[in-house]
This record gives sequence, C-alpha cells and structure tokens, in this order.
Amino acid sequence: MMRYLYPGAPMPAIGLGTFGSDSVSADAIAGAVKGAAEVGYRHFDCASVYGNEDRIGAALRQIMDGGVPREELWIASKLWNDKHAEDDVIPSCRKSLADLQLDYLDVYFVHWPFPNFHPPGCDVESRSPGAQPYIHENFMRTWRKMEELVDLGLARHIGASNMTIPKLELLLRDARIKPAVNEMELHPHFQQPELFAWVRAHGIQPVGYCPLGSPNRPARDRTPQDTVDIEDPVIVEIAGRLGVHPAVVCIKWAVQRGQTPIPLSTKRAHYQANFEGLQSDPLTDEDMRRIAAIDRNCRLIKGQVFLWKKDQTWEDLWDPDGVIKS
Ligand SMILES: NC(=O)c1ccc[n+]([C@@H]2O[C@H](COP(=O)([O-])OP(=O)(O)OC[C@H]3O[C@@H](n4cnc5c(N)ncnc54)[C@H](OP(=O)(O)O)[C@@H]3O)[C@@H](O)[C@H]2O)c1
Repeated sequence: MMRYLYPGAPMPAIGLGTFGSDSVSADAIAGAVKGAAEVGYRHFDCASVYGNEDRIGAALRQIMDGGVPREELWIASKLWNDKHAEDDVIPSCRKSLADLQLDYLDVYFVHWPFPNFHPPGCDVESRSPGAQPYIHENFMRTWRKMEELVDLGLARHIGASNMTIPKLELLLRDARIKPAVNEMELHPHFQQPELFAWVRAHGIQPVGYCPLGSPNRPARDRTPQDTVDIEDPVIVEIAGRLGVHPAVVCIKWAVQRGQTPIPLSTKRAHYQANFEGLQSDPLTDEDMRRIAAIDRNCRLIKGQVFLWKKDQTWEDLWDPDGVIKS
C-alpha cells in the first residue's frame, strides 16, 4: 500500500524503525532491515544519531544486489541536532548517504527543531551548555540548506520532525520547498488530533513514531504516568477477536487513520505480523471509533534534554498554548 505525497511521489504505507536505543545492536538492526525486506518492507526510517547507518547500508546493498531496485525503496535519514549550522547540513547528509551506500535519500528530516546537542544514551537531566529555544531565523538557515539538498538531488523530499503547529506555520510561510512529511509521535494513547489534522490539511503526510507505544524503551524514557497502549482493554479485545497481537491492531489503526507507522522489531515473527496485518480485512468503523476514544494524551518522548532554561517543564517544548516558547 502507498501514500501519495504532495509532490506526487508514492511512499510505502508502513516502514521499519531502526532506533535500537540501548538494547539492540547495530548488527541486529541491520539484520532486521534485511529480513524485513524479505517479508515485503520497502521503507526504512534511519537517522545518523542511531549510530547504525553504516551497518544498515551494508544490508541495503545486499537487498539491492538481491534484486530489489533502488526506486522501490523508501529510505529516510535525519540531520542531528548538533549539525544545524549552515556548513554542516550538506556534509551530514553526504555522510548518511555514504554510510547507507546510497546516491539519494527519499526524505531527509530535521530530526528536532532545537540545535541542542546531547549524546546518545544521556540522562534526561542532561542539558547542553549552550541550549537554545526554537529560533525561527536560525531554523530557516538550516532549512535553506535542506532545500539545497533537493536542488542537488541528494534528497527527493525534506521533512520536519518533533514540530508543533506554530513552528510549522512559520516554516510553511517561509519555506521555498515545504516539508512533504512530518514525523511525530503517534499511537492510540497519543493521537495528537489537532496536529494530525493540521498537517493533513496542509498536504503534509504524518509519519508516526513509537506506533506501538515503544513498549521496550529504556527506563530513562519512562515516567509513572505513562500508559501502555498494547495493554489497553479496547486494543486487547480487538486483537483477541482478530487473533493477532495487540501491536498489529495499533498498526492497522495507524494506517487506516492515515498516518505512516514505522514500528521497530528485530524479531521476524513480529515485523512480519505487523506487515501482514495490513493485508487482512480492515478494522471496522466501530473499532476505529472505539480506538479514537482511548486517547490518553500520553506523550512518551518528552524531550527533556532539549530544555534551555532552569525551572522549565518538558511541556514547554511542545508549545501547548499555541505560542512558541522563548
Ligand atoms: N523522529 C523522532 O524523533 C523519533 C523518535 C522516536 C522513534 N523514532 C522512530 O520510530 C521508530 C519506532 O519507535 P520505537 O522503536 O521507539 O517504538 P515502537 O515501534 O512503538 O515499539 C517497538 C517495540 O515493540 C516491539 N514489537 C514490535 N512489533 C511487535 C509485535 N508484533 N509483537 C510484540 N512486540 C512487538 C519491539 O520488540 P521486538 O524487537 O522484541 O519485536 C520493539 O521493542 C524508531 O525505531 C525510530 O525509527 C523517531
């Protein structure tokens, strides 16, 4: 199944996530990429900060040598936060391309709208000394270089991630090439209905990360208030009726709602089930209505490390009043 982006390009309706965090090695992720291609995946969500693009590149080479044409694949990568400077954007993209053994990316994202560096695996209390709020003029300097990547043929599309409506409004006002996709956290307990509707109304395809509620994320990314999507009685009941794992219900819901989920799994039975779930009968309208009603507004990836002032809460990163915090 495909989604069609505003420039007309088809994007596969499900992708494989590739962020192993603390617990999954680069080789295990690369193995999953290769196995997922065998069961039918054509879309892979990569990022330089995941620290595994070189291993994934070797897997992609094998996939293409095995007969899958490059044009059938949809490969995403992302600019990390310490590379927002104008001189860093194009070299960062070229480094990801070299690691992934590709001539072009299907989409290159700005991973976060903040240029605040933090090392992979750091504690949520960690802050970069020069941390800044979102400064639109600076973001646009980065975005001009992102646009140049399209002109150079290094990226077919450019995308935003972890944005809010007020930030996207400014970006759409000032961009020469608007984002074709917006990667955002989306799962049954965090449906972001307002942002989801907004991006779709503006012709931007939402890509949903943590589509299963990231059940195996590290302890530092958990709080006592977090809820568990795959244990929700509605999800569990529908899964029981269909004879599938609750994860599969989350994926079917995501695709039927209109977002592009990018679940991670390194287990063949799991990523195959997630993919094949899309080939069976769709969820009923009643299922879709019941899942719409279990939203808990439960953001899992809160982004605390990006805060730039003392006494802030993570909510400040997400412009809850519709105004960009400075
Ligand atoms: N743009 C951003 O800032 C951003 C932020 C976070 C994540 N992402 C992207 O989104 C991707 C997905 O997010 P995520 O990995 O945090 O969370 P997720 O996809 O919601 O959950 C992944 C977990 O679910 C388990 N799982 C998958 N399918 C299953 C099944 N059928 N049955 C049982 N368990 C299953 C996997 O374990 P097993 O391996 O054991 O199956 C894995 O640990 C990431 O890999 C990354 O590419 C982007």
